[in-house]
Amino acid sequence: MNDFETILLDRHGRVGVITLNRPEALNALNSLLMTEVVAAVEGLDHDPGVGAIVITGSERAFAAGADIKEMQSKTFAEVYTDDLFTQWDRLSAARTPIVAAVAGYALGGGCELAMLCDFIIAADTAKFGQPEIKLGVIPGIGGSQRLTRAVGKAKAMDLCLTGRTMGAEEAERSGLVARVVPAADLLEVALEAATTIASMSLPIAMMAKEAVNRSFETTLAEGVKFERRVFHSTFATADQKEGMAAFVEKRAPKFVGG
Ligand code: CAA
Repeated sequence: MNDFETILLDRHGRVGVITLNRPEALNALNSLLMTEVVAAVEGLDHDPGVGAIVITGSERAFAAGADIKEMQSKTFAEVYTDDLFTQWDRLSAARTPIVAAVAGYALGGGCELAMLCDFIIAADTAKFGQPEIKLGVIPGIGGSQRLTRAVGKAKAMDLCLTGRTMGAEEAERSGLVARVVPAADLLEVALEAATTIASMSLPIAMMAKEAVNRSFETTLAEGVKFERRVFHSTFATADQKEGMAAFVEKRAPKFVGG
């Protein structure tokens, strides 16, 4: 399972766990790591035995950003022609729910990778920021867009223009983070959340993810219409019959993923 150099890939039941593993560089996202994370997510996403994915880093760093040493001498023509970082966009095509478990630094591309996940569980040690401006660049993996949608214009401008970092508590208060937990409990809580998700009906979880994501792409009226149609379609599944029967019969549901 671990034919990777910069990440570790594990399975905990129906949960796939990707651990960023470049400790010498605080998990800076170089091109190999980008290729490996995308390949690992796509592999898990296409595996019907996987119902949720966790992406995590180390105690010290989720990821300290794109690899500055690798980028430093690139020319405009190179980054433009290669469309640098476009590979990361493939993570948003994943249909399996993805939880980011963040401890320590999540800066620049690290913060952006966490935001590419469906929600973030943060250790109380987590530090988020978009410090690219201090390097003479701007966010390049969606930070200016996803951070603004998550925390609003005021805080996104503050973080992108000053390059300051924000702690876990501020990140939760601002809506960037779903939960903050003691650092020692981070992986356990993230795995518990992912295991709960993976115990649901996979197609229904995919529909819930798709419906929430649609809200970022469309008007309220269109989004509600989309949600209603998808809600109606859940009645075509055996899992809707099972979920409601289990409630009425006062027992736990047994979802079959169909
Ligand atoms: N790229 C490459 N190497 C990095 C790195 C990065 N983003 N972040 C840290 N490292 C390396 C350091 O160079 C250092 O390696 P050496 O020992 O070989 O010098 C090692 O990781 C440990 O880092 P520090 O010694 O700097 O550790 P620290 O505890 O003193 O500081 C830090 C930690 C504040 C996170 C600091 O490392 C830092 O500021 N890192 C850069 C953060 C940053 O600017 N991120 C944005 C990158 S640009 C980007 O991400 C663009 C985009 O949107 C796509």
